[in-house]
Amino acid sequence: MIILGIESSCDETSAAVVRMEQGRREILSNVVASQIEIHRLYGGVVPEIASRAHIEAISGIVDEALRTAGVTLSEIECIAVTSHPGLIGALLVGVNFAKSLAYANGIPLVAVNHVKAHVAAAYLECETLEPPFLALVVSGGHTSFYEVREYAEFREIGGTRDDAAGEAFDKIGRVIGMPYPAGAAMDKLAYDGDAHAVTLPSPALVGDTLDFSFSGLKTAALNYINSERQKDREPHAADLTASYTRVIVEAIVKKTDAALIKTGAKTLVLAGGVAANSHIRRGLSELCEKRGVTFSTPSLSLCSDNAAMVAAAGYFEFLRGKLADTSLNASALDEDF
Ligand code: KG4
Ligand code: ZN
Repeated sequence: MIILGIESSCDETSAAVVRMEQGRREILSNVVASQIEIHRLYGGVVPEIASRAHIEAISGIVDEALRTAGVTLSEIECIAVTSHPGLIGALLVGVNFAKSLAYANGIPLVAVNHVKAHVAAAYLECETLEPPFLALVVSGGHTSFYEVREYAEFREIGGTRDDAAGEAFDKIGRVIGMPYPAGAAMDKLAYDGDAHAVTLPSPALVGDTLDFSFSGLKTAALNYINSERQKDREPHAADLTASYTRVIVEAIVKKTDAALIKTGAKTLVLAGGVAANSHIRRGLSELCEKRGVTFSTPSLSLCSDNAAMVAAAGYFEFLRGKLADTSLNASALDEDF
């Protein structure tokens, strides 16, 4: 089946053509137009500007995805679009474009949850991956564990009670002078510092829970930065980043270990933009090796927002008969778990 995926939930406009069949998963095109340069001026995503940039880009991006894949609209058998969660104005651009395209061309339409799409990215590169497994999604908006029982059936078993890991990296990175989004730069800088130089609280909540809280960690890092500046010193960016990364990785590894024990899962899928973090990838890959668990994570280009993952998730929604129609609406909320 040939699927056109469309993604516009945050600051990337993306369209992709993917072929999904039993035992065969192939990306024919995956075009991503990033708005990062525009939002960098403001130190974060400005929702109104994001919506406008999606409107300007979407038609050309879909054309390019079809052209690069070498297929015409008449060969597309399903259109999959991210409908939630995300920035409502940004989501509406993709949803309305997909609805019009599907309606005008008589193509079946499916709505996709962005978080499930991050996990579906793992299927694209690993044809043997199949549920059940434990998924950990770490992104700008999520730090969540899911028990994935069927391709499109997720049960959330833990998550952050406040900020997400990506937000925590971006916020502290910004305060120490890194351009938005700071995650990838902090990943590199952490190699240059002493990971035990700054004492910081763990974002893993104490007790029999798989939940996190990143707000205390962010506040502690800010207090360290402010107290150094009050003493007329610039905080040591590499030491802070290394220490900050260490407590985040340790917390994620600890809670993932608990989640593996709780669920008895034999496979772990790590997905989402922050899954690109080399320290987290290494920590979880070592944990899985120790526990005899198969570790699967998409390559870096499929970790960040893209439409190939939306098309892959859409395929499984289509298979279970979840078709959408012109009444489809976008939602900012993560409501279908
Ligand atoms: O999944 P994503 O592209 O968008 C959301 O759905 O939120 O994730 C974006 C987040 C940003 O916070 C960015 O700083 C973070 O992923 N990120 C990283 C790395 N690469 C991207 N965080 C840590 N280390 C990285 N290497
Ligand atoms: Zn995302």
